[in-house]
Amino acid sequence: MSSNEEVDQERRCFLRRATTAVGGIGLAVGAVPFVSYWLPSTDTEAAGEPIEVDISALKPIEQLTVVWRGKPIWLIRRTQAMLDTLPKLNNLLRDPNSEEDQQPSYAKNIYRSLKPEFFIAVGVCTHLGCIPTYRPDVGGVSADWLGGFYCPCHGSLYDLAGRVFKGVPAPKNLVIPPYTYLSDTLVQIGKDKEGTEIE
Ligand code: FES
Repeated sequence: MSSNEEVDQERRCFLRRATTAVGGIGLAVGAVPFVSYWLPSTDTEAAGEPIEVDISALKPIEQLTVVWRGKPIWLIRRTQAMLDTLPKLNNLLRDPNSEEDQQPSYAKNIYRSLKPEFFIAVGVCTHLGCIPTYRPDVGGVSADWLGGFYCPCHGSLYDLAGRVFKGVPAPKNLVIPPYTYLSDTLVQIGKDKEGTEIE
């Protein structure tokens, strides 16, 4: 690919990213009970420091998006019904056991999380970096859809643990950032007890 084509490709993806973000908000109003955004202070963000997020108000199925190191970080409270979908999908997934290095060791499990109830992930598609849309609505993306994430840029699909489906452009599962619970309702993102680092 020539450098011009690369720039074009990058630009197209950026434009899609922008429209995805806007479209995602519109869609979320109808499809998701509650979606909220929280931005850290400019100083914290500039320094790339860990952030603390209060999850006490997060209700089942709801998604909270925060920004850490310029990336959207999703916090989703999964119901038991949502967790029950995960083992059913293993055969359809590219890396069902999270063998690829896309998460800290404590998230290398079927839930890809420290506590099954709370899913915390970097909301960036592993194909070309668009922001996938949260689609917990069963049957919403296809007749057999059990809930997950849909990237409208090139159609990549992930389950409710951010595990990528086979046959889509995205090569890997969504990245899980380092995090730790400071209390039952306070999560620190960007730093964990193991000292995990991600780009
Ligand atoms: S960026 Fe291509 S499918 Fe998500």
